[in-house]
Amino acid sequence: MCGIVGEVGNDQAVSLLIHGLKKLEYRGYDSAGIYVNDEHGQDYLIKTKGRIAELESKITDDVHGTIGIAHTRWATHGIPSAANAHPHVSADGRFYMVHNGVITNFKELKQEYLADVDFKSETDSEVVVQLVGKFADEGLSALEAFKKAISLLDAGSAYALLMIDRENPETLYVAKKKSPLLIGVCDGFNVVCSDAMAMLNVTHDFIELHDGEIVELRKNEIKIQDAQGNAVERKPFHVSQDASASEKGGYEHFMLKEIDEQPAVMRKLIQEYVNEDGTLKIDQELIDTIKASDRIYIVAAGTSYHAGLVGHELLEKFAKIPTEVHVASEFAYNRPLLAKKPFFIFLTQSGETADSRQVLNQMNELNYPSLTITNVPNSTLSREASFTLLLHAGPEIAVASTKAYTAQIAVEAILAKAIGMDNHDQAALDFDIRKELTKVANGMQELVDEKHKIEELAAKYLVKTRNAFYIGRAIDYDTAIEAALKLKEVSYIQTEGFAAGELKHGTIALIEEGTPVISIITDQAVAAHTRSNQEEVAARGANVISIVSESLAHSGDQIVLPEVHPLLTPLVAIIPAQLLAYYASEQRGYDVDKPRNLAKSVTVE
Ligand code: M6R
Repeated sequence: MCGIVGEVGNDQAVSLLIHGLKKLEYRGYDSAGIYVNDEHGQDYLIKTKGRIAELESKITDDVHGTIGIAHTRWATHGIPSAANAHPHVSADGRFYMVHNGVITNFKELKQEYLADVDFKSETDSEVVVQLVGKFADEGLSALEAFKKAISLLDAGSAYALLMIDRENPETLYVAKKKSPLLIGVCDGFNVVCSDAMAMLNVTHDFIELHDGEIVELRKNEIKIQDAQGNAVERKPFHVSQDASASEKGGYEHFMLKEIDEQPAVMRKLIQEYVNEDGTLKIDQELIDTIKASDRIYIVAAGTSYHAGLVGHELLEKFAKIPTEVHVASEFAYNRPLLAKKPFFIFLTQSGETADSRQVLNQMNELNYPSLTITNVPNSTLSREASFTLLLHAGPEIAVASTKAYTAQIAVEAILAKAIGMDNHDQAALDFDIRKELTKVANGMQELVDEKHKIEELAAKYLVKTRNAFYIGRAIDYDTAIEAALKLKEVSYIQTEGFAAGELKHGTIALIEEGTPVISIITDQAVAAHTRSNQEEVAARGANVISIVSESLAHSGDQIVLPEVHPLLTPLVAIIPAQLLAYYASEQRGYDVDKPRNLAKSVTVE
């Protein structure tokens, strides 16, 4: 959600910034802009609605600079348009600024300080650069004006801000609160970005910024100060990830590449977490802290929430600790009565989701211990939780989460096993995680190798339909709602994931001739009941598609799943559902990796 890049000191500012924006494209955006300045009186501001390719087409050969800022915007306040795209400019044309986040008190600030300013956009962001312009006009230095403007933003506001002063264009002013931002340390120049991936072509060394910090960034200087104005010294951390890990590698879309990578991710997780003798590489302090709790709260959003539902089954079965799963945006403002000794698990691919972060901040204030399970080392939720476990899934670029979902479930299984083993729990001791995850990896491989069959099913049932249902019971219901989210977000088919037994209590009224109803059946205890529910919808004209474990399959079932441990069936059952979503989107002619209205990293509440 919104990408932000800046650089100072490199005379290839345009290509560096455009490259950075392209690397952040996957996060989701609807307009883009760039400002560069050559420090000799020439500067250029170019903005457009639409894709970065359109921005590039507007950048003529004469556009050049040694300092610059660029931005991809995901509209929150104001429609997607060139006027609302960043950078925004102060009324006197002196200050240029890009912003990620939300300024919650922008209306009040406008009224109180800027009533006479002619705003050029409908955004909340523009208010910040106009405040800087006003305060500089009143006699403050650029830095003082920047700091004063920031001091007026209310507690609910979130920002990553980059600013250039046209009268003094050798400094990039940087500020951060809640929205992610990193300084990239280079030789003879410096960069700043909302995600390390944007700048891996020029550096692997990054300095994280903390909330409230302000930076003056120059070609040979990184001057950080905290909210009180004290100088901050912080060493860079090294990102070992190869820049090519975020390339498509011959695939037409990242989503298909990432679906195909899942068997390898399962093997990687075995390597990262399981020792040769079957013991697990999980910090004993983490195990002890969780064991000391009387209830686990899993908090997450979207697909990560769905992975949490499966985690609930695993933790209760093996760790024997009561576990609840909550949608972060609900939990933050409608908190249930908490247990006496709660432990929080935040599941988040990006580690930046604002809804989850809001809950983590609240729980930190209450001094409750927490674990973040994330794909992104050094991400905000990782830094702010007591413990972190990494997903080791490699960069997930497609907006639709696939390999992060299965990696989350696998890590939850490893964690549950580790706690159970520590308790000498027989079920946990019998759960051979290396063997079970290897079976899963092999099963996933069989399914992705047969993807042409799923492509045919998508062509037959999903190209034309307006709506669809996924149904399942027990653990298959957990998979059904993730499968439905996948299908709706990339194909725009209105899809509901439903508890199979609940359909007849109302929703069956929506079944029409030809409505696709995809049922997931892996749990023997409820298989017969789900079969009855299939019959009920078939009798009303539905096109029934079955995704069924081998041992429960009937002749005529379209997708048969390899057998795996009963609590790990979501790891294989989701593969055909991901592929159905992918092919439905592709066959309908949509932008599979960047579905409309969606962002990869949702950094606003
Ligand atoms: O980065 P997170 O895992 O915290 O993101 C949570 C959701 O925004 C994310 O899973 C979203 O639902 C995906 N687009 C689903 O494919």
